[in-house]
Amino acid sequence: MEKLIISLIFIVILSSLSIAIPRGYARKQGPVDTENAWFQNICRGKEKVAKLHFYVQDLLSGENTTVYEVARASITSNSPTAFAQVRVLDDLLTAEPDINSEVVGRVQGLITSADLETSALAMNLNFVFTSGQYSGSTISILGRNEIMNKERELPVVGGTGVFRFARGYAITSTHAYNVETSYGILEYTIYVTYIDDSSMRLPADM
Ligand SMILES: *[C@@H]1O[C@H](CO)[C@@H](O)[C@H](O)[C@H]1NC(C)=O
Repeated sequence: MEKLIISLIFIVILSSLSIAIPRGYARKQGPVDTENAWFQNICRGKEKVAKLHFYVQDLLSGENTTVYEVARASITSNSPTAFAQVRVLDDLLTAEPDINSEVVGRVQGLITSADLETSALAMNLNFVFTSGQYSGSTISILGRNEIMNKERELPVVGGTGVFRFARGYAITSTHAYNVETSYGILEYTIYVTYIDDSSMRLPADM
């Protein structure tokens, strides 16, 4: 009986998903039939884990600034942790620490100083990949970043394209920071699940 209830719940969840997902994607990804077929086949795909490694070019000032403050509170200027400062960023992702190395993509999002006592950010980041096998796919990260720690862990909460149904985490550290120019180079390693669909190609793709 219990098994029956569980499988019924599963069927209900699956059928509601199959109505909701293809519609959203159909808008930019092509025929609804293709999306339906992808969804029907997803259970046959194998879940794998990818390890992505790259650098974030964090330019806080100067002519090529990519991080801008959009709001602060009455407390921010006198707070040792810049509490309640809200910033928006659109940083370049590169394969190596050098800003002129191979471009991997961008990271765009919102960072808020959200700890009264310790320097820690509440981060909402979308990594947009523009080269290689992940080009066109995105990974979303949402979490707490205690920036003075050598290594910080952030949760991967989802993704699009190759990273549909993604789960995982990122380890990040500050590779270099120039106080005078407010230029930071951050290292990111992301461990993320993805569905290997090479075993479930649609006839149209072959
Ligand atoms: C800003 O970007 C341009 C174009 O990439 C580059 O030529 C220039 O050196 C950069 N400026 C600084 C201060 O890094």
